[in-house]
Amino acid sequence: MGNYIATKLEIKNYLFARVPLIVIRTSERERVERMMREISEEMRINIFYYTDVKQVIALHSGNGVSKDVDRDPLSYAQELFRKNRGTTFVIGDVRRISDENAFSREILDSLYLAMETAGTMVLVTPDYVWSRLAQFGLLTVLDYPDEDERENQINKFIAQYNLKYPIEWDAEAIHKAAMLLRGFTEVQIDNILISMLVSNKGLANANLTDLTKQKSKLYAAVPCVEEVAVSADMDVSGLDNLKKWIKERKKLFFISDDILEDYGLTAPKGVLLVGIPGCGKSYSARLFASEWELPLFRFDIGSIYDKWMGESERKMRAALTFIDNMAPCVVWIDEIEKALSVSDSGNDTGKRVLGEFLYWLQESASRVFLVATANNISALPPELFRKGRFSEIFFIDLPTGEERRETIELYLYKCLRKHLTESELDILVEMSEGYSYSDIESVIKEAAQYRLIHQMKQLEFEEIKKYFENNISFANTNPETIKSIREWGQTRAVPASIRKHQ
Ligand SMILES: Nc1ncnc2c1ncn2[C@@H]1O[C@H](COP(=O)(O)OP(=O)(O)OP(=O)(O)O)[C@@H](O)[C@H]1O
Ligand SMILES: [Mg+2]
Repeated sequence: MGNYIATKLEIKNYLFARVPLIVIRTSERERVERMMREISEEMRINIFYYTDVKQVIALHSGNGVSKDVDRDPLSYAQELFRKNRGTTFVIGDVRRISDENAFSREILDSLYLAMETAGTMVLVTPDYVWSRLAQFGLLTVLDYPDEDERENQINKFIAQYNLKYPIEWDAEAIHKAAMLLRGFTEVQIDNILISMLVSNKGLANANLTDLTKQKSKLYAAVPCVEEVAVSADMDVSGLDNLKKWIKERKKLFFISDDILEDYGLTAPKGVLLVGIPGCGKSYSARLFASEWELPLFRFDIGSIYDKWMGESERKMRAALTFIDNMAPCVVWIDEIEKALSVSDSGNDTGKRVLGEFLYWLQESASRVFLVATANNISALPPELFRKGRFSEIFFIDLPTGEERRETIELYLYKCLRKHLTESELDILVEMSEGYSYSDIESVIKEAAQYRLIHQMKQLEFEEIKKYFENNISFANTNPETIKSIREWGQTRAVPASIRKHQ
């Protein structure tokens, strides 16, 4: 049952019981107006609805009848209560009722009158209600539209406009849009859809990512969580196994809660990427966001730590609220071991802060996917590897010959617009044994810079080869590091690549 339907039922029950006061906590007064109109029809009762803009309208007699009460709804409400037993009077968007003041006291007087005449006053407010008022009645909260309601709203919107505009969104896109629009009011959702429709002259699947941009505008930023720009199509060579996992789990990540619950499953929560420097750990964090068309937030968990009492907790709460509001999204913690090494006079502050985050992630109902990366696994506490913490732990090794070939071809074309023959490529593949992906990228980029600086039409193979000759690979300078990461990765993690080193 949606929020709207559940809240409506609750209000109907309260009205039936003739409770003198019903407080509806929400900032969506338009939705309440519609709800009260429906209730008036379904229960066949008279309901008067006041807002500063429209003054008093009688919901039971269509839109027509309205009475200007000169911004003094309470005198008018009292008059109605006196005249007709069982009157229902709604005040939309009430403020100044959180404490005792002239206005809240006047409401109190009206409530005594309502009680005597079996009337009901309904207050629609986003604020807290002064305790003496609150004891007169019952409170209900109308939450923002839930996923089903958002999906319905989008479907209605499309039905309204699809004759005038080309709308590409299929059921899957609509479902995704409904997920992305979490945290918006009904009016905001309509505004976002209409502005996208008009500015793009239709709704294409590519517009889906615009929805997340709208969202980041809505919430105040927190310093330790920063949005990272991600390009829609990334060039990633090798890492077949990881790429396959990302593609497959995308489906699972976007399946609705009901279906997952039915089968006792949960959406994937995150991965840990461990591996050799320069082989695409940080790059793959972007790949998740790009493939899943979600915003990416880098979470600097180390900066949460603060030496002042209570400050770390406050920062963590602010960060989690922000992330929760941004969901669905990908959160990236780079070099997780560095955050863990933060310690305060022997206390494991870093570990505690991270533990808190992981616990939140596990318990949270919102779709947040964590990509954590690590180089130095010896610094990671064993509890991080407990089953269920991460959906998978991947090990990213140096590229194999085949993967180097792919990477060389990729960057040669991207930076030099150059194709080589198979035998020339064979030579570079052999020369680049022990190179990381980023070694290959930087060698070719150096060559490409040289070409631009000297305004050359194209570089010859021999010149490109020289750059490979002069490069010293990471594996060459750090054989011990490679050996230990490999030993760990091969026994404790799933390989990111299915290809084998010769
Ligand atoms: N599989 C890949 N395909 C194409 N380019 C890649 C790949 N992996 C890495 N690169 C390139 O190398 C650069 C460095 O990679 P990245 O920053 O992901 O390495 P890392 O594993 O995070 O290293 P570090 O441990 O040093 O942080 C990337 O920005 C990207 O340009
Ligand atoms: Mg990195």
